[in-house]
Amino acid sequence: MSKKYFYIFLLHLINYSDAARILGAVFTPSYSHQLAFQPIWKELSLRGHQVTVLTTNPMKDPSLTNLTEIDLSVSYEIMKSHKTDELLSNSQESIAVRFSKYMEALHVTADKQLSHPEVQALIHNKKEQFDLLMVEAIYPTQMSLSWWFQIPFIGLISLDAPSRIHAAVGNPVHPVLYPEYDLPFYRNLTFWERLFSTLFMWFMSWYSEHHLHPREDTTIRKYFGDDVPSVAEIQKNMSMLFINVNPIFHNIRPLVPATVQVGGGIHLQKPKPLPGEIQEYLDSSKNGFVYFSLGTNVKSASISQKLKDTILETFSDLPYNVLWKFENDQISDKPDNVKIVEWAPQTAIMAHKNIKAFITQCGLQSIEEAIYYNVPIVGLPFYGDQGNNAKIMESKRLGVKLKPAELKKDEFLAAILDVSTNSTYKENLKQIAELYNDEAMTGLEKAIWWTEYVIRHKGAKHLRSPAIDLPLYQYYLVDVISFLGGIVIFILFILIITLKIIFKIIFKIKKYLFRSNVKNKKD
Ligand SMILES: *[C@@H]1O[C@H](CO)[C@@H](O)[C@H](O)[C@H]1NC(C)=O
Ligand SMILES: *[C@@H]1O[C@H](CO)[C@@H](O)[C@H](O)[C@H]1NC(C)=O
Ligand SMILES: *[C@@H]1O[C@H](CO)[C@@H](O)[C@H](O)[C@H]1NC(C)=O
Ligand SMILES: *[C@@H]1O[C@H](CO)[C@@H](O)[C@H](O)[C@H]1NC(C)=O
Repeated sequence: MSKKYFYIFLLHLINYSDAARILGAVFTPSYSHQLAFQPIWKELSLRGHQVTVLTTNPMKDPSLTNLTEIDLSVSYEIMKSHKTDELLSNSQESIAVRFSKYMEALHVTADKQLSHPEVQALIHNKKEQFDLLMVEAIYPTQMSLSWWFQIPFIGLISLDAPSRIHAAVGNPVHPVLYPEYDLPFYRNLTFWERLFSTLFMWFMSWYSEHHLHPREDTTIRKYFGDDVPSVAEIQKNMSMLFINVNPIFHNIRPLVPATVQVGGGIHLQKPKPLPGEIQEYLDSSKNGFVYFSLGTNVKSASISQKLKDTILETFSDLPYNVLWKFENDQISDKPDNVKIVEWAPQTAIMAHKNIKAFITQCGLQSIEEAIYYNVPIVGLPFYGDQGNNAKIMESKRLGVKLKPAELKKDEFLAAILDVSTNSTYKENLKQIAELYNDEAMTGLEKAIWWTEYVIRHKGAKHLRSPAIDLPLYQYYLVDVISFLGGIVIFILFILIITLKIIFKIIFKIKKYLFRSNVKNKKD
C-alpha cells in the first residue's frame, strides 16, 4: 500500500470512529416536548451518528436511515386513561388532588415505558452499546439508562428548567429573580408574589426529594435491580443541560458553562405548503384573518360551553375571517366567518400575508413562531409555562393576555382589534425577531456542537460545577454566619458583663462617697 492510500485509509478510520452511537429518550407524552428535539435527532443522524430514540411521537421519516425510533405513543393512552386532560384545566377537584392524580399518571407512564417490549429488548440486548445518552431531564426515570449502559448523559428540556434541575447542575436559583416557570411572574414581583414564589420553590424541591424521587427509585429498581443508584445520585452525573431558552425572550440569569441555551426557535423549519382548502380560504380572506389555536395539549375538554359561546360570539363580530384549529370540529351555530380545521401546518399559516393576529394558549413554540413571523398575539394561557410566557409576552408588548376562565366578549373583541390595528405590537415583534436572529450560533448548531464535544471527551467532568457537591449548609453559609454570629454574641456578652461590673464598681464608689459625704455633713 502506498503512503498516500495508507493515509486515506487512516482518515476513513478516524471518520468512522467519529460517528457515535447515541441513545435518545424523551419521556413526556406531549407533542411540543418531542418537537423541540426532533431537529437534533435528525441532524445528528445526518452527520453519520447512529441514533436510537425512545419517543412518544416518532417522525417516521424513511430518509433518515441512521435514526431508529422506538414508538412509545402508547403513553398517550395511559395518560388518557388517567383523565389527565380534564385534570389539567377543567376539574372540580382541589388543586392538591389534581396534582397528585396527575403525578400518578406520570409515574405509571414512566413504569410502562420501561416495561415496553422494545425498550426491554434494547436494555437486555448484550450487544447494544452506546456512547451517549440524551434524555429529557424534567422527569428523572430515564436518566437511569446512563447508569445501566455506563455512559455519560446530556439532559434536555423543551422549555426552561425548573429550579430543582437548575440546582442539579449547579446554577444559582432564586425565587424572586428567577421564579419557577409555572408561575405567571416576571420581574418586579409584589411582596405577595415574592412570598408565594418562595413557598412554591421550597414546596417543589421538598416534593421532588420526598415523593417524586423515592417513587421513581422504586421503578428503576424494578427494572435495573437493587444495585442501581438513586435517581438523585444519577442526576448529579449530568454532563450538560440543554434548555430551550433564549435570553432575548426569557429571564436573564447566571448559568454554569455546562448549561447551554439552545432556544430561540430550534423547531422552526421552512413552512410546508398549505393544504389546498386552507390556502384558498386564507387567500380569499381579503380583510385579513385571525388564526386561533390552543396547541396540542389543551383539548376540547378544557373549553367549557360558556367559554365556547363567548369565543363564537366574539368571532361573529370580527371584521376578519377566523381559522380555528380544534380537534373537535362538531361546533353548532358556527358563524359564517369561522372555519374549523382539525390540523393545520402552523408555520405556513403564520407566514401567510393576510394574517392579522394569533390567538394562542402561549406555548413556547407558538410564541417563537409568532415572533419569527411578526404576528401580534392574544394570549389565553391555561397551565404549565403558558401563564409565564403570556406574562413576558405582554410585558414586552408583543400582544395582550386575557384569562380564559373569566373571558368577556367585550375585552376579547377589544384585544383582537387592538393587536391587529395598533402597529406598536408588530414593531416590537420585528425588533425581537431581529435580536433572535442575530446570534453567533443557532440553537441547533449549539446543540450539535456541544453533543459532539461531550462524545469526544466522554463526558464533561471538567465543567462540573463545585456547587453540585457542596452541602447546603455550606452553600447558604449557615456555619460561617453562625460562627460570626456566635462571635458577635460572645463579644456582646463580654461587653455586657464588663459594663455590669464597671457599673457595680461605680455604684459602690458613689455609695461610699455619698455615705462619707453624709457623715462629713453630720460632723
Ligand atoms: C448514515 O451514516 C453514515 C456513516 O455512519 C453516513 O455515511 C451516511 O451518510 C448516513 N446516512 C444518512 C442518510 O444520514
Ligand atoms: C421594573 O421596575 C423598574 C424600576 O422601577 C423599571 O425600570 C422596569 O421597567 C420594571 N420592569 C418591568 C418589566 O416592569
Ligand atoms: C456516573 O458516571 C460514571 C462514569 O460514566 C459511572 O461510572 C458512575 O456509575 C455514574 N454514577 C451514577 C450514580 O450514575
Ligand atoms: C398603540 O399602543 C401604544 C403602546 O401601548 C399606545 O401608546 C398607543 O396610544 C396605541 N395607539 C392607538 C392608536 O391606540
